[in-house]
Amino acid sequence: MSSTRILDHPLVDCHLSVLRNKSTRPAEFRQSMHRLSMLLAYSATAEMKTSEYPIETPIQKMHGRQLVDRVGLIPILRAGIAMVEPMLDLIPTAEVWHLGLYRDETTATPVHYYSKLPSGSPVELAFVLDPMLATGGSACLAFETLKEWGVQKVKMLAIIAAPEGIDKIHREFPQVDIHCCVVDKQLDERKYIVPGLGDAGDRMFNTTG
Ligand code: PRP
Ligand code: URA
Repeated sequence: MSSTRILDHPLVDCHLSVLRNKSTRPAEFRQSMHRLSMLLAYSATAEMKTSEYPIETPIQKMHGRQLVDRVGLIPILRAGIAMVEPMLDLIPTAEVWHLGLYRDETTATPVHYYSKLPSGSPVELAFVLDPMLATGGSACLAFETLKEWGVQKVKMLAIIAAPEGIDKIHREFPQVDIHCCVVDKQLDERKYIVPGLGDAGDRMFNTTG
């Protein structure tokens, strides 16, 4: 059964408030997204496997530790892009495989338009990156694609999640663990998260028009 881990930290509350505030400009929005992604990454990577290897300090020989698994970061375009850099700062050896999905405005169902996943040799651990988990349609389509690629272990990283999206993932992909900064109240009639922050991609890339 999958688990949902929610960050509980005063810094998360402060940076989330900046994201939610409709007067926050895109540059500051991206900065807060970066900081929250760092905090989320720290928590979501806590159980990663490491192995020993010999190193030598200026004083003596000892054993260091290195990551065991081949790691893939799977940002869902567009908004997931903002979460890549903070993850790469912490796991510089990770591979980045982009997935292009957008929600049809009338049905709120995901439309797949781009995939950079290779056909063979799947990563051992994949982190799906998307700040917004609303209906869960986009995340589940991403998991389906990763399953076809042959990935065994998948973790979902979202900044804001809705209960509807979490339930869908638990139902359809019980092996996927969810890590998020906060779980909001609900979705509105247009399937936007309430209170949420609006359209993450538009606010991030200044395309609100
Ligand atoms: C947003 C968000 C997720 C999706 C979440 O993308 O970044 O990918 O919606 O909604 P869901 O859980 O109901 O599927 P959007 O469709 O706005 O694409 P864009 O960032 O390219 O504009
Ligand atoms: N996508 C967003 O960017 N925001 C929402 O509230 C829901 C989906």
